[in-house]
Amino acid sequence: MGWFGNVFVLPDDTSGQAAGEELLFQSAAVTTGLYGTAGTLDGWKEAAALAVGNSRLTFALCLAFAGPLLRLTGTEGGGFSLEGDSSCGKTTALHLAASVWGGPAHVRTWRATDNGLEGVAALHNDGLLILDEIGQVGGKVLAEAAYMLANGSGKTRAGKESALRRSQTWRLLFLSSGEVGLADKLNECGLRSRAGQEVRLAGVPVSREHIARLHGLPDAAALSDSLKAIAATHYGHAGRAFLDCLTRDVDRARAEALRLLEQWTASLLTACPDADGQVKRVARRFALGAAAGILARDQAGVLPENMDVGMAVNACFKAWLEERGGAGASEDAAILAQVRLFIEQHGASRFQDMDTEQTHGVINRVGFRRKADGMTEYIILSEAFRSEVVKSFSHRRAAAVLRAAGWLRVSEAKNTTKRDLPELGRVRCYVVVLPPDE
Ligand SMILES: Nc1ncnc2c1ncn2[C@@H]1O[C@H](COP(=O)(O)OP(=O)(O)OP(=O)(O)O)[C@@H](O)[C@H]1O
Ligand SMILES: [Mg+2]
Repeated sequence: MGWFGNVFVLPDDTSGQAAGEELLFQSAAVTTGLYGTAGTLDGWKEAAALAVGNSRLTFALCLAFAGPLLRLTGTEGGGFSLEGDSSCGKTTALHLAASVWGGPAHVRTWRATDNGLEGVAALHNDGLLILDEIGQVGGKVLAEAAYMLANGSGKTRAGKESALRRSQTWRLLFLSSGEVGLADKLNECGLRSRAGQEVRLAGVPVSREHIARLHGLPDAAALSDSLKAIAATHYGHAGRAFLDCLTRDVDRARAEALRLLEQWTASLLTACPDADGQVKRVARRFALGAAAGILARDQAGVLPENMDVGMAVNACFKAWLEERGGAGASEDAAILAQVRLFIEQHGASRFQDMDTEQTHGVINRVGFRRKADGMTEYIILSEAFRSEVVKSFSHRRAAAVLRAAGWLRVSEAKNTTKRDLPELGRVRCYVVVLPPDE
């Protein structure tokens, strides 16, 4: 599957010319329905038109076209996950993206794929692997899967013929969805997400408001339902039309894709001049989505002319960045400075002293303080931590930064600790100890 020289191979079809040869796809894997077609391209375009003005839907569509550009532009693979409450349109977005390449079977669930992930990944080489319901797999499985999918190879193992079968390799993008993000999933099983995982799976927050342009439909739910209906009726054509466009002149397509990729990487990064290496890598992946969307719109003519691809990708990138808590080391320093300032200003007035059993005079309490090992522990209640102490930063990111700096007292994998507190009983809280100011 995927690029073979300048030819793109699908199970039952190829795009492009191989000099004097006919290329056929042969595999033991079952591909039925995966890259099928139904209905018409024009019918499908009605679905694409409904995505106009809706950033998450537009972004999902762009990603569907971005797989084939990975190898052309030498970009590394990786994933995105749409994260948000139930019934906000996540699965809808996945179905829309899937309809570029095939029918509803193109959307898989994590659970159903758990065992055979390598084989499935190989079938999506140079494409977009779509995995719904992240909530159904454990954090450990997910963490390993994110690495494996992004890094492009499976494990080597003995095959039926008892010879050592070559492990499968691939280069792909994956798009996932679920109510919780990677960091929460890992937290659930006591693991902490590492920077490397966050680079490989970028979470894009989604909420109901992200379907705001209704195109004459009564509400977002109706738009979502009609998208799903169209995507189940008309599919598979847009991807093929896009490939035909790319393979008409692969060198030109590569040059154009590279130009757009550089342009959009730079453009996304203007929002964060102090971006660290991780942010740059992820920005490049978002930019590949922009490049793909623009090519699909302007060169292949499969996306609507009035679809603002740049706006959508920009909005998703910004949302990812915000959720992550900023672009780089300078944000880390800002988080530490804010926490120190908060404690310096309010340490005496808003933290109830547990050593003296003081109960009066604490207005707008954010937590408790007590002496331990010659230092003062500030025990911050979790809601106050979010809404006041690290206000304007992602609390998750802030906790991770505090922990990395050694400011958090923790006894387990979680950043919060259970403490017995007066009046409140045993609750989870953040225990901060300020180091001496250098
Ligand atoms: N933005 C929205 N606002 C209001 N209702 C919506 C929105 N998006 C989808 N819906 C409604 O929710 C239903 C489910 O949509 P979808 O499957 O896309 O949700 P989801 O985000 O994947 O939810 P879940 O997390 O439960 O899987 C749709 O059929 C539609 O009626
Ligand atoms: Mg869903």
